[in-house]
Amino acid sequence: MMIEIKKVSKAYKNNMVLKDISFEIETGKLTVLIGESGCGKTTLLKMINKLIKPTKGNILIDGRNIKDIDDIKLRRGMGYVIQQTGLFPHMTVKENITIIPKILKTDENKINEDILKMMDMIGLDESLLDRYPSELSGGQGQRIGIARAFITNPDIILMDEPFSALDPMSRVSLQDELLKLQSSLHKTIVFVTHDMDEAIKLADKIAIFDNGELVQYDVPENILKHPANDFVKNFVGKKRIWTSPKYIKVEDIMIDKPVTCLPSYSIFYCLNKMKMMKVDSLMVVGDNNKFLGVLYVESVTDKSAMNKPASEYMLKDIPTVKKEDSIMTLAKLVTESRFSNIPVLDDKNHLCGLITRSSLITALSQQFLEEE
Ligand SMILES: Nc1ncnc2c1ncn2[C@@H]1O[C@H](COP(=O)(O)OP(=O)(O)OP(=O)(O)O)[C@@H](O)[C@H]1O
Ligand SMILES: [Mg+2]
Repeated sequence: MMIEIKKVSKAYKNNMVLKDISFEIETGKLTVLIGESGCGKTTLLKMINKLIKPTKGNILIDGRNIKDIDDIKLRRGMGYVIQQTGLFPHMTVKENITIIPKILKTDENKINEDILKMMDMIGLDESLLDRYPSELSGGQGQRIGIARAFITNPDIILMDEPFSALDPMSRVSLQDELLKLQSSLHKTIVFVTHDMDEAIKLADKIAIFDNGELVQYDVPENILKHPANDFVKNFVGKKRIWTSPKYIKVEDIMIDKPVTCLPSYSIFYCLNKMKMMKVDSLMVVGDNNKFLGVLYVESVTDKSAMNKPASEYMLKDIPTVKKEDSIMTLAKLVTESRFSNIPVLDDKNHLCGLITRSSLITALSQQFLEEE
């Protein structure tokens, strides 16, 4: 179920609250809409299920303009979780969850089966089914809201700040539940929040809105590393990436052009090169920069070595990393390894960079140096 937002604008009288928004929400992915209060997130979400009509532009689902789809049919194909649960106070938990399946005249046994499955999936005891919403904690209520959205097995689920009223602990555990659900169900989820940490944790892609405009739409990693403008930069905050170190990659902190030599070069030549370049090792490479080994200055102990080739003194079996490895993998490797230099190789073992202990420390210390 791909949702295409095409040149959508919304005005209330003279107030343009959404301005010419275009982007595509991908099938089976969790897309987060984020921005400050009043920037138009809820408005956009409600346009997807036709609770609000765009002033201009179109919304397509799987290529079909939603204008041409019956309102009720459209909404039945979408789960909708709103802030503060939106549970009906005079109905029990069970009645709340099963309201739509009952309207759809789903078989009673099937409903009962599904409801137990749902309660299990969201981590709630079935004894809660006969309670009323007022007898639930905030977190339990939100879980029921999620169960209600998922039970008809819709392809699309819209969630409007579903966790924002919760304490941090319940919030984190509900985020985890949602990720778990999503990893097995792969729904097309549109999730509104104004919490960047929540967005980065949950999103496959993040759409950032500022004052009715879509300012950046990208994967969390790119939002963190390449904010599109100052608004995004401030919204993200410089230190944010350090709360998600998995997004910091070896290639972000490696030395791009390590000092190299050929295996045939004499040790005399190599030692001179090290002295001139002020390094304590050389990366030994063959044709096309193929990585062969590392020549450390301390490996050369005898004078008779001077005329021998680098290949005789280089170390071959040393740990290496790939450009795409995360800084966490790297830190572990450096801690466990007795080598201070870790070559960075591509899939074909070509040398593309070098991590030294000091480049790693410099990178890690950024988080303490950079001011918000
Ligand atoms: N029915 C309405 N009539 C007039 N203006 C409205 C109406 N509904 C919303 N607005 C205005 O449209 C803008 C966008 O509202 P919207 O609810 O989409 O914001 P939001 O991004 O969801 O904010 P929040 O994070 O506070 O929920 C706001 O300035 C709001 O005051
Ligand atoms: Mg809102």
